[in-house]
Amino acid sequence: MVYFYIFYKAQFNRIELFLCPKINKRKKMKQHYEKYTKEDLKIWNLLFTRQEENLQNKASQTYLNALEQMKPVLNADEIPNFKKINAWFENETEWQIECVPGLIPVEEFFELLSIKRFCASTWLRSMKNLDYLEEPDMFHDVFGHIPLLCNPIFSDFMEAFGKLGVAIKNDSQKVLQLQRLYWFTIEFGLINEKSNQIYGAGIASSFGETNLSLGETVEVVPFDLKTILNQPFETDHVQNLYFIIDSFDQLFEAITQLETDFTKKK
Ligand SMILES: [Fe+2]
Repeated sequence: MVYFYIFYKAQFNRIELFLCPKINKRKKMKQHYEKYTKEDLKIWNLLFTRQEENLQNKASQTYLNALEQMKPVLNADEIPNFKKINAWFENETEWQIECVPGLIPVEEFFELLSIKRFCASTWLRSMKNLDYLEEPDMFHDVFGHIPLLCNPIFSDFMEAFGKLGVAIKNDSQKVLQLQRLYWFTIEFGLINEKSNQIYGAGIASSFGETNLSLGETVEVVPFDLKTILNQPFETDHVQNLYFIIDSFDQLFEAITQLETDFTKKK
């Protein structure tokens, strides 16, 4: 069985597979908001404030606008309350945050995306490990991934990605190709706006990689679906290759194209 989140672990140099029951058997998780401490709030505030400032003129304007739009429920002064965010989303988009125990099986990940549920952890890194994670925490999942779901085109792309994943979940080669597409777009994608701008959550939630990805030591190449499907991602060091899109439409067109290609190959 293939696990979609394997690369998160791998990204931080520690490959482990977590097993958990199938979606219909897993007990629904809740965010225990009352358990967050003052120290957690201090960490969240520091992460949010530092990264919001760092991303100015570096992140996609679409991402920054969405972050601003979400300020009533996503800001530096309160740990994100999934109930509040989900209530806000009901009026703004149809996405909902789904609490997960960290790493989940690929089938479940696809199924959740296909019904517009984005998986998020509820734990937060410690002050000692502000820039080192063994697996994605709430700052990565929420600050990095959630804002762009406000964008209708990106939202449609994510939903279509999940639906395609559900359709091909038993074909390990196709799952691998979808993982590559996810890695080089949703996690580590750049977009050509005023200059190279960040939209991938893995970059947007990382202070260090925000600066690294726009520097001169990395290779940035135009987005090309075929190239990405055949491009293994390297997990034992930070990224040195990024793909840049011209617009979010390009992502939606790519997933539509992939759907056609996968169907043809059956
Ligand atoms: Fe992520």
